[in-house]
Amino acid sequence: NGHPLNAVSFEDAEKPLAKELPLSELGEPDSNLSITIVGASGDLAKKKIFPALFALFYEDCLPENFTVFGYARSKMTDEELRNMISKTLTCRIDKSENCGDKMDQFLTRCFYHSGQYNSEEHFLELDGKLKEKEAGRLSNRLFYLSIPPNIFVDVVRCASLKASSTTGWTRVIVEKPFGRDFESSGQLTRCLKQYLTEDQIFRIDHYLGKELVENLSVLRFSNLVFEPLWSRNYIRNVQLIFSEDFGTEGRGGYFDNYGIIRDIMQNHLLQILALFAMETPVSLDAEDIRNEKVKVLKSMRPLLLEDLVVGQYKGHSRGGKLYLGYTDDPTVPKNSVTPTFAAAALFINNARWDGVPFLMKAGKALHTKRAEIRVQFRHVPGNLYKRNFGTDLDKATNELVLRVQPDEAVYLKINNKVPGLGMRLDRSDLNLLYSARYPKEIPDAYERLLLDAIEGERRLFIRSDELDAAWTLFTPLLKELEEKKIAPELYPYGSRGPVGAHYLAAKHNVRWG
Ligand code: NDP
Ligand code: BG6
Repeated sequence: NGHPLNAVSFEDAEKPLAKELPLSELGEPDSNLSITIVGASGDLAKKKIFPALFALFYEDCLPENFTVFGYARSKMTDEELRNMISKTLTCRIDKSENCGDKMDQFLTRCFYHSGQYNSEEHFLELDGKLKEKEAGRLSNRLFYLSIPPNIFVDVVRCASLKASSTTGWTRVIVEKPFGRDFESSGQLTRCLKQYLTEDQIFRIDHYLGKELVENLSVLRFSNLVFEPLWSRNYIRNVQLIFSEDFGTEGRGGYFDNYGIIRDIMQNHLLQILALFAMETPVSLDAEDIRNEKVKVLKSMRPLLLEDLVVGQYKGHSRGGKLYLGYTDDPTVPKNSVTPTFAAAALFINNARWDGVPFLMKAGKALHTKRAEIRVQFRHVPGNLYKRNFGTDLDKATNELVLRVQPDEAVYLKINNKVPGLGMRLDRSDLNLLYSARYPKEIPDAYERLLLDAIEGERRLFIRSDELDAAWTLFTPLLKELEEKKIAPELYPYGSRGPVGAHYLAAKHNVRWG
């Protein structure tokens, strides 16, 4: 089909996506695509989903006949919905060219239907409106569940019974959280499967849609210089780091029920780990890749409480400004022990990774915003230049860094001779900075994932057995943490997080990058 992945090429990096994806390949010419965003009045819909759909439209990646419906309980007219979303649309590709026209064209394809999430009758009304726009053409329907998880099943029931396509496919994108432990996640999957087949369910983990995460496999499997080093023989440790320089602002109520381990580690960081560590898949097909990821997850050593450090941010004043602590949020209980920071050491019990620590660190309200994959290599055996590094040989090891965000980059720390007559070495970076190499703006993760769902490409979505394996790994640890009511180590808002994370790393001979 016309999905960009099936046309992997080494052509000009500047080439627009539209040329790689002829409209004719996005569906039968007289077919129709109806996209319904359930929870359209919410934060995610405004911030990410409508803008991503507009960007796809702007790049000619949507089929000719498409409509976007917002669905939520809030009362709104079509015009009010358009006003609401027009505030967050941006023309990132070419700010000057036809931007206003394109926005107007997009907005005329957007409609709204107000209804309850558990009302079959209201979904039947939606079906009527969709049919009107589809005008008798073959119709494919995509539902995006941008709503709290407690109403997922109601919506899926009503949408599948009353608003499924009768002529084309019906797919449902589900946002995390997928349960809060193994049992609740399994229960959710079973309920969804009463109404949908696994093939219709697209569980989103938006980190898989990030450019640098996509690039991880390309880097590894299409460059001879990396894959042979990708094992315990050459890699000393791998670090997966997520940090945000703001707190749970506005989402404290949601967050307190989940905590950072469920919010970031069990999904975003674990998915990256699985992609990083998997064996070479048979092909780039979704099932081949997901099969390999599941094998990694099933090979992981059970997580131990002694390999976990948890923290929670407290209020802090800096530069005359007071930054409130986590429990100062009125939606968070004062005695909450929910972690806003966690660091963990994970191990994969297989021949490739035996003994290699995979260190994860995730935190809110830290000193910086970044997401990185750092790979620290072993020492050079019998290093001829070791005297140049003094006693700290760790400083001489190579490190490969994939900076997922911000300022996307791939760089390799190497030792290099300082030019001159003497023999002095220093650490330098072979640096691929995306903004310098690829002037075009990088698509948002949601654009890639929406396009994939429309195309039926499942590679970047989570299969139910992957989800089970991820929860199997984290559930016992979370239970123990919660049963023992382990108090998190407090750290000041805007700091580097609890010092315990450094002890944990040191225990495994690791220094955080
Ligand atoms: P919101 O809390 O903004 O909810 C979306 C919409 O759902 C609301 O506008 C509201 O619409 C309806 N809603 C909210 N609470 C309830 C309730 N208790 N019962 C019934 N309906 C309700 O969520 P977000 O937009 O922030 O997120 C949507 C989904 O995406 C969630 O599952 C969230 O966990 C997930 N997510 C969000 C991210 C973000 O950055 N916001 C990031 C990653 C995932 P109305 O009242 O009009 O019906
Ligand atoms: C979401 C988490 O999945 O990812 C949020 O629920 C977090 O807590 C967000 O802020 C981070 O995403 P990004 O793309 O901004 O790094």
